[in-house]
Formats: sequence, C-alpha cells, structure tokens
Amino acid sequence: MYDLVIKNGTIITPSSSFKADIAVKNGKICAVEEHIEDDALECVDASKKMVLPGAIDPHTHLAMPFGGTVSADDYYAGTRAAVCGGTTTVFDFALQDFGEKMVDTVKRRDALCAPDAVCDYAFHVGVKDVSGELLDSMKECVEYGVPSFKVFMVYDFGVTDGIFFKVLEKSKEIGALIGVHAENNEMVNMLTEKYISEGKTSAYYHYLSRPEWVEGEADERAIDWAKAAGAELYIVHLANKQGMKAVEKAKAKGYPIYAETCPQYLYFTSDVYKREDGRNFVCSPPMKGQESMDALWAGIKKGSIDTISTDHCPFLQAEKDWGINDFRKIPNGCAGIENMYPFMLAQANAGRITFNKVVEICCSNTAKLFGCDTKGSLDIGKDADIVIYDPEKDFTIHNSNMHSDTDHTIWEGVKLHGYPIKTFVRGTLVYDNGEFVGKRGFGKFLKRSPRPKRA
Ligand code: URP
Ligand code: ZN
Ligand code: ZN
Repeated sequence: MYDLVIKNGTIITPSSSFKADIAVKNGKICAVEEHIEDDALECVDASKKMVLPGAIDPHTHLAMPFGGTVSADDYYAGTRAAVCGGTTTVFDFALQDFGEKMVDTVKRRDALCAPDAVCDYAFHVGVKDVSGELLDSMKECVEYGVPSFKVFMVYDFGVTDGIFFKVLEKSKEIGALIGVHAENNEMVNMLTEKYISEGKTSAYYHYLSRPEWVEGEADERAIDWAKAAGAELYIVHLANKQGMKAVEKAKAKGYPIYAETCPQYLYFTSDVYKREDGRNFVCSPPMKGQESMDALWAGIKKGSIDTISTDHCPFLQAEKDWGINDFRKIPNGCAGIENMYPFMLAQANAGRITFNKVVEICCSNTAKLFGCDTKGSLDIGKDADIVIYDPEKDFTIHNSNMHSDTDHTIWEGVKLHGYPIKTFVRGTLVYDNGEFVGKRGFGKFLKRSPRPKRA
C-alpha cells in the first residue's frame, strides 16, 4: 500500500506536461502512471491542478548577522514561509568567521538550523579567510557534503581579488562550485562618498551608487578570472544587462559560467527607490532599469539564466527606517522566500514563459548544479517534494498572508493568477491552502555531491 497517491493532476517536468497519477512510499516517489489503482493511506484529487516538484531556493540569508542587526527570519520562520510558497529545499549562507575552518562554519550554522527547519536545507559557505590551512579546509567541506562556496566582492567582509582567484583555483581540485556577489567595491565606495558629500542621502542614491556598470564590470572581471583559472563560476543575483551579455558570451564559447537571478529583478525597476517607502527595496545589487529587466527575461527564455533564487534577507521596518535620511544605514536585503515559485508560476500562467521552464530554473537546474541528487524532479526514486498548483486561484500578496516573521513585504499588493495549494516535503503535507501544517525540526541537512569532473 502506498502512503500517498495524487490523482488526476497534470505533471510538469522541464520537458513535458502530461496527465498522470503519482504515488509515494517512505517519502520517495515510487510510481508515475496514467492510472494508479492500488490503495493508499491518503489520496489527493488534483483534477484541474498541476503537480510540480517543490522549488529549490539556492540563496537565502536566515538569522544572518548583517547590516548592524540580524535578518528577521530565523530558520523556523524562513523555512515555514518557504514551504507556504512551494519551496521545499533552501540553501542558506553560512558565513565563515575569521580563523574558522569551513566545515566548522557549516556545523555551527547547522546546530542552529537543524532544530528549526521545516524543510530540507543545504549550505553554501561564505568565504572570508583562506589564510594558512583554511584554503585547504574547503576540501573537508566538500567531503562533508557542502561543495559550494560564495565570495563577496563587496561589503566589509568581501575578499580581495587574489583570494577570489585562489578560491577559484582550489574549486577545480576539489569539485566545488564558486558563487560570486559581483559589484565593484571601490566604485560603490567612491560613489557613496560623493553622493553623501553632496547631501544626496535618499534611497535612490543607494541605486545610483551601485548602478548597472558597477555590477556589469564586476561580472565581466569575475568571468575573466574564472576563465583564467579554468574554473566554473556561478554568478548570484545577477541584475544587469551588461553582466547578462557577458554570461551569454562566455556560455556561447563553452565556458562553464552560470547565472542566477531573482524575482525582484524581474518585476521591479530602480524606480522603486523614488517611492516614499524606497528604503524597503534596498538590497544589493539594487533593482536596475527596464533594459536590464528585459535582458534578464530574454536570458531566461534563451537558457542563459540557469536558476532563480530569492536572496531572502528581510529586515524589520524599524531597521529599514534607520536609513530614512541616510541610505548607508539601511540594512541591505528584502523578503521573498515565499514569493519565488508563485511569482514565476504566475508568469507561466500568464503565458510569458512555459511551466516547464519554471520547473527547469526553479528545480531541476538548481538540483543538478548543486549536487542535490534526490531533489529537483518528480522522477521515480526522488524525494517526494511535491507542489499542487491551482492555475485558477487568485492571490494578492499581503504581509498578513505571508508566513515569515517580517512586518512588511516589497511584494505587498501584487496580484497573482494561480497559486500553490498544497506542499509536501518527502511525502508529508506541510502546507495546505493558506495554512502551514508542518513541524519544526522536520527538515534534514542535505548532503550533496561534488561537481562532476570536466574534460
Ligand atoms: O541585499 C542583499 N542582497 N543582502 C544579502 C546579502 C547579499 O549580498 O546577498
Ligand atoms: Zn549578495
Ligand atoms: Zn544574498
């Protein structure tokens, strides 16, 4: 007898959509057939609904000390919100302390996360210090099931160009993928000082101190270094046209350069920083102009954007207000963990892209790039991380119907046609039509495979 059968739905894969039933036993998908007649402990009718793999969010910052405070969602609130938006695996950034072995960084964060997470989770290590033996400690991390690292070219903990290059070189040896937050730090600092000295302190100057070219130039440099090192590179939260073009050029020449973007860059332009609540949209990189947004959408359609993430890093309104008269004091980051899959699926529902494309960039590509062997599709043997989506359900986003601990959302008032109605993690129902029904601590640390060797 099966534990769960989902009947009469339309199954969505990256390459096809078809009517089938899907059966689950011991948390795994064990049959996908036209008609499953066997008994099940639980049977869900998905007539007129779509059945999709749960999304994987490869970029979140939960309970992260940052910007003079700690991001507002801890591992419980953040993962609770994730599953209520159809995301069943989250990748959080474990930021290394100076002098700390990277595997210890992972263990330190896992100790916080394990008792709280309601869905499965993985970590990327945010690299700060590769002095002495610490560079070699990356290998231990890969062996522990964490084969991905991120370097920041900005912020006070950003790495030097030399460290970035060393990390890229090391990644080839150990089967790791390096992510980069690419913005030109010197330019950001110079422009920030200039605007402040001119008394230009509103949120719009956050954007003007990090304009298109500040990100685009850093993307180009990062790609050049990856090429020189013969390493793979994953550009996180890509938000500009110049960078998109650089990724496309590198991909066309066969270089293993991958790009992630986020829903906020696909929906908002830099005009949001002129709004009275512009500070709430402050994140880095900032939202850019219409041309960049168009280039990102075109990149999705062409296959040059590999994944979608949220960069979920919410702060409370009172914290955002610190920078009401000085954009430098606004903690960088916005909420989005519950909005990624519903937003992308609503774009498919409106005909802008296909549902198959959404599954590709929100699930299967992400699983493949980051070595999540049991996740990312509805194939037999995979974890039964499943979302049932009602393409006819209308939903308006309000902070009050979100499930995180934040007190505002940049997505307030945005209307979506179509919405997830049920989420299962390893076959267990965790979200049911507006309500979180999961359990704290149910989520498991996901040990991942290293990158495959390249010729
Ligand atoms: O503004 C952002 N994105 N905050 C989180 C840290 C980062 O850069 O990813
Ligand atoms: Zn970043
Ligand atoms: Zn981030």
